[in-house]
Amino acid sequence: MRKLGVLTSGGDCAGLNAAIRAVVKRAISGYGAEVVGILQGTRGLLDRPVKARTLELSLFTGEVLRQGGTMLGTVNTGDPFAFPDGKGGVIDRSGEVLDGIRKLGLDALVGIGGDGSMRILKRLADQGGIPFVGIPKTIDNDVPGTEMCIGFHTAVATAVEALDCLQPTAASHQRVMVLELMGRDAGHIALAAGIAGGADAILIPEVPYDMDGLAAKLKAVAAEGRNHVLVVCAEAARERGGDPTFKHDPGGGRHYGGAGQVVGEHLAKATGADVRVTVLGHVQRGGMPTSVDRMLASVFGVHAVDLAAAGRTGRMVAWRGGDVADVALSELGNDPRRVDLEGSQARTAKGLGIFLGKD
Ligand code: F6P
Repeated sequence: MRKLGVLTSGGDCAGLNAAIRAVVKRAISGYGAEVVGILQGTRGLLDRPVKARTLELSLFTGEVLRQGGTMLGTVNTGDPFAFPDGKGGVIDRSGEVLDGIRKLGLDALVGIGGDGSMRILKRLADQGGIPFVGIPKTIDNDVPGTEMCIGFHTAVATAVEALDCLQPTAASHQRVMVLELMGRDAGHIALAAGIAGGADAILIPEVPYDMDGLAAKLKAVAAEGRNHVLVVCAEAARERGGDPTFKHDPGGGRHYGGAGQVVGEHLAKATGADVRVTVLGHVQRGGMPTSVDRMLASVFGVHAVDLAAAGRTGRMVAWRGGDVADVALSELGNDPRRVDLEGSQARTAKGLGIFLGKD
């Protein structure tokens, strides 16, 4: 392997730079390869000349491992197979992206992405015959085939910190605090943060919640003698029989958002409680990666390069049963990995008496 490309794709998260660093260190020190960093994900491959830079060991002076974001830039819009044509429609620009990869003369490509990016990159690699290895990252932790994605642990730590801040002010004012967290269609962040942060109720997309049950939980907490309640609400949580809530970005895009406000309004109406809602938003994506995310990113980066060098491409590195593993991209399927309602975390939440959407 003489020349390896690396790119980040999809929403950023903490630990991406640690993964890039591991890829570069392993490829150069272990295989004497040249590493090319592609800028702004697949978008950089549409530009001519292609937006890319050589990544040398001298770039990694010590700070990069600790830094949030991605030194390569990323995009979570502009799927090359359905690229906005500027007239309200979409066009297929995958051929241009593949041409961009060929122009770089790569022997293999490492793509660090979430479940959507992984599908797009696999499709590109299949179409263009590009030796490709994926590294899973996303705060949502919903990439199938792996128990852990880069960025999840830091997002949960940030959410728990928020609950640690909300609890004393909730107690001081005898309030119900609703904390809305990200996670798209999966409740992994909400469930883990809710357990670690002492939530009384955790509302996740996997279990459309029962408002009467939630109101009853508030009463039960009061009957226990506690004067405040913490409710964690995933951004795609919805009431039983209801729809998820969306918000419009200033630029016109549409995202999940507002679920916490809906829960808060209903709760205030149903119980008369003094309710406040906090939306943590993109704070969960930034910040310095935790030690767990740095470790995971480093393990994944090294393993991905070893796979590429061994010609074991068409695979994604993964975390399974407490160790690094790898899985064929063709085995991943199209659905995000959602919370297993029979799994240990859901059982733990129920075991702690946390209201998980229904009794
Ligand atoms: O997939 C990661 C994620 O942060 C989701 O949790 C969230 O719904 C979405 O991305 C937000 O995307 P954007 O960066 O486009 O606002």
